[in-house]
Parts: sequence; C-alpha cells; structure tokens
Amino acid sequence: MSKVTVVGAGNVGATCANVLAVNEVANEVCLIDIKEGFAEGKAMDIMQTAQLMGFDTVVTGVTNDYSKTANSDVVIITSGMPRKPGMTREELIGINAGIVKSVANQVLTYSPNAILIIVSNPMDPMAYLALHALGLPRNRVIGMGGALDSARLKYFLSQAIGCNANDVEGFVIGGHGDTTMIPLVSYMTYKGIPVSNFLTQEQIDEVVKSTMVGGATLTGLLGTSAWMAPGAASASVAEAIIKDQKKMIPCAAALEGEYGMHDITIGVPCIIGKNGIEKVLELKLTEAEAARLKDSEAAVRKTTEILKGLNVL
Ligand code: LAC
Repeated sequence: MSKVTVVGAGNVGATCANVLAVNEVANEVCLIDIKEGFAEGKAMDIMQTAQLMGFDTVVTGVTNDYSKTANSDVVIITSGMPRKPGMTREELIGINAGIVKSVANQVLTYSPNAILIIVSNPMDPMAYLALHALGLPRNRVIGMGGALDSARLKYFLSQAIGCNANDVEGFVIGGHGDTTMIPLVSYMTYKGIPVSNFLTQEQIDEVVKSTMVGGATLTGLLGTSAWMAPGAASASVAEAIIKDQKKMIPCAAALEGEYGMHDITIGVPCIIGKNGIEKVLELKLTEAEAARLKDSEAAVRKTTEILKGLNVL
C-alpha cells in the first residue's frame, strides 16, 4: 500500500492530487487544507471522475486533522500564498516560512519517515527550511522547481523547433526564480541531436528567456500562480519515489560539496528513487553556465539568509 499526502488543496495541490489519482501513482492520496470543507470538496470532485477516467486510487480530503495523513510515504507541501502579478517568488518568504515549518512539523508527527516534496515559494529556501528546522537527512527533502522549469523548457523548445515535446531533452538548474534559474543550453537536444542544428542562437536565447519567466508569464495571464504544470511536476517527483524509478530529475537538493557548494538548497540534476534524492549528478558546465550558477548561488543564499531573521530555523 502506498500513500501520498498533499498539503494545501488550492489550485496546485488539487491538480497534483488529481494527477496522482489519474495516473494511479499511489493507492491512497490524502488532501489536507485549513479551510473547512475545502479539501473534502476537492477530493470528492476528483473521486467523481474515478469511473470516467478509470482509476482505482482513493482520494480523501480532510480539514486540519493531520492524524488522517498518517503513514504517508511521500508528503507534498503546497501550502502558503501564491504570487500575484508583478510579485517575485522571493517576496513570499515572510508569509510562507512559518506556514511551511508548521505544516512540515505536523506531517512528520504522523509520518516520521515520509519524504517531503516542497512546492511552496520561494521554493529553494523553503526546502532549506524544512530540512534544517526538522533536522532531516538531505535525501528526504526535495524542492520540485527544476522538474517544473525543465518541463517548461521542453515546451518552449518544442514550440521553437516545431516538434513533439517528448522528443526534446533539456533541463534547468540553479534557483527556482525568474533570474536565478539556468536552462542548460549545452545539454538541449532534439532526439539526441544538439538543438543548434535546428535553431539559431537568437531562437535558443528566446527559449531560455521564455523558460526563465515562464511562471511570471502565466501569473500575468491568470492573475495568480500557475497550477497545471506545477501540480503535474510535483506528482512526477512523487511517482519517481513511490515507483522507485531512479529517474534523473532536476530538483532542489541540499548540496554537500557538489558544484563547490555547501549549506545551500538549490536545483541540480538528481536521481530520484524510493529513498528520495539518491544521488546528485555533477555535470560539466561551460564557463558561462558555471558563472551563472555562481550568480544563482549568491541570489539563493541571499534569500535563504532571510530565514535567519525570521527565527524559523
Ligand atoms: C511557478 C510557481 C509554482 O513557477 O513557482 O509557476
């Protein structure tokens, strides 16, 4: 029996629970929210699609009662404020830090061995917070930003080439921020062929730019933060854990010397399996990419430092 809890039944949390159910990632999905009846309603709505979509996963919804989340293998934390148009993810730290810490604490009371997937923004510092405030080993706290940003990169890349999004490869490392994420051009391919065979430098630059502001563009269009791709990206990380897929997924991980960094949680390619982050892959970067990773590191550190002033660590 496998169980995934999704904390926060808002747009991202509900979408994530829906993807987990439709794809039958786990036997049970528990959706929990602070708003009375909200998670129950979202869970019931999802369950009413079970025979239409043909899935067997059981989705339940609860208000505040963490005992119902007991024995979860994976817990996905989406709680907190989403950003509004014109806001950066970093601006949410003051509001979301306390929420994420309290949620993580309650979740671990009932599922002491769960692996946590952090979605709440600013995602890299929130993953750092969960790890340090709760004293967890690094394999058990995963920030999902890279999975999302890489999916967006593949979308923009396939649009530029005019091909199927499943035929392109590419990933994003660094922070999950408009200026801190780094789409790695040197590793972008179409069926294994470097994309420079199909796109001009100008087109590649455009793909990179669109990816970096991918979240902000959608926030502008929707009036709030996006949820389809964030929900599906979080579900894909949970699936890699539950099914022990050993997939290579870019995620925010606590680095222990990789890429010359310590004491920071930032996006890098990880092997994700039943133990969560099973390995951090160290890639060769071009000089320009390495320089950008340095800048990204500095920016993520600066936001992470704010946690100290908030007394949450
Ligand atoms: C986004 C939010 C979830 O990028 O960070 O859409």
